[in-house]
Amino acid sequence: MPVPFAIQLFTEGIDWFPSLFNIFKVVVLVAVIALVKWICMGASNTSERKLHGKIVLITGGTSGIGAATALELAQRGAQIVLLVHQSPKDGFLVDYIEDLRERSGNEMIYAEQVDLSSLYSIRKFATKWIDNAPPRRLDMIVLCGSTLTPPGKPRVVTDEGIEENWMINYLANFHLLSILSPAIRTQPPDRDVRIVFTTCAAHTRSPAVDDGSDALKKKGWSSSKAYAQSKYALTVFGHAFSKHLESYKRPDGAPMNARVVFVDPGYCRTPGMRRYLTRGTLWGLSVYLLVYQSIWLFLKSPVGGAQSFLYAAQEASLGRGHGGKLIKECREMEFPRKDVKDEKIAKKLWEGSEKLIERVEREEAVKRALAKKEREEAEKNGKAAEESGKAGSEVKGDKSAKSKRQKKAK
Ligand SMILES: NC(=O)c1ccc[n+]([C@@H]2O[C@H](COP(=O)([O-])OP(=O)(O)OC[C@H]3O[C@@H](n4cnc5c(N)ncnc54)[C@H](OP(=O)(O)O)[C@@H]3O)[C@@H](O)[C@H]2O)c1
Repeated sequence: MPVPFAIQLFTEGIDWFPSLFNIFKVVVLVAVIALVKWICMGASNTSERKLHGKIVLITGGTSGIGAATALELAQRGAQIVLLVHQSPKDGFLVDYIEDLRERSGNEMIYAEQVDLSSLYSIRKFATKWIDNAPPRRLDMIVLCGSTLTPPGKPRVVTDEGIEENWMINYLANFHLLSILSPAIRTQPPDRDVRIVFTTCAAHTRSPAVDDGSDALKKKGWSSSKAYAQSKYALTVFGHAFSKHLESYKRPDGAPMNARVVFVDPGYCRTPGMRRYLTRGTLWGLSVYLLVYQSIWLFLKSPVGGAQSFLYAAQEASLGRGHGGKLIKECREMEFPRKDVKDEKIAKKLWEGSEKLIERVEREEAVKRALAKKEREEAEKNGKAAEESGKAGSEVKGDKSAKSKRQKKAK
């Protein structure tokens, strides 16, 4: 039976049996898909070192690239402090941390509440951190937290009245690092401290940001412009912060041991990217699901996006020389936009940001003080009403007891 079948196959071919040419076509197709996938997956980090004992603060560590980075760093032994906007008692967060501990085999994973949309929340956390005596150990800060208003959606402002992209993607990092700066600079000289900024190719499309006031204007706002401006401002600030660290003269005379590293993770399939592609709509989600094969093929996984962060965290050469290097695809690259290193632009932006923070914090402090006063007055009035109510009911009680006694006596 097999012999006649093979003879027939060889001489005539069989209708339902794929021809050699068809097999060849399928093999080529699979090979091309595999090659495209392999290219789009991006480079893998090859710079490995143990991170036991190192303390890493990470924003955005609950989703996408940040979550993958937090897991990988924890697997290498780092102590992770997730800076999250929820309360550390939040049920979802507690489960998330438990899961992270289990998957990484590392119990040293904690969370601190830092809402990046609130200057007050950032100040509360950062001042608590620097108030610690002796200064707390700090080896790395990974700034992954971000937002992006989906295209077509209206402009969002935070409770403190600042445009959301500007606040979360840029100003939050400015505020956090400005307050933590003394804690970063006082780390012992043998420690290799790294501040990892997340940049994005979108920053190249940003118009000039000047002192930052343009980014807060309603007029001419668009989600892509707001995101690009915030990422551009962050990149400019990162360079200025790098210079700020380098110019610090340590009292012990040792060279500065804290450096800024920029990471561009490339385009990845993260919840943030999904929100962007779907425009935060149901019909967008349907299209997203329909074309998911292409998204899967061309975009990196969050773990793929985390590779350059791991390189930035572990590569020994980044702990020497000047800071401010850009890592993309696990290697050093030139910045596509040269003016991100311009000191004049940075100075103007820095001063504008300080002024904005000072004004908003002052206004918010007044609002909080007024709200506190109102609460206290309401409590006082409530107590007074309660006491007079009690007194009234005691008098009433006395009267009714008296009348009962009189009735009994009759
Ligand atoms: N994905 C890409 O293709 C891509 C490309 C280039 C650069 N990047 C950059 O890579 C970084 C990570 O991107 P991603 O796509 O992984 O982001 P993502 O999935 O959108 O995650 C953003 C993270 O930021 C946190 N976050 C948002 N608002 C916050 C707030 N008010 N307070 C505290 N945390 C807040 C989120 O916490 P919750 O989940 O709790 O809200 C989440 O953990 C970003 O800086 C992004 O700009 C991404």
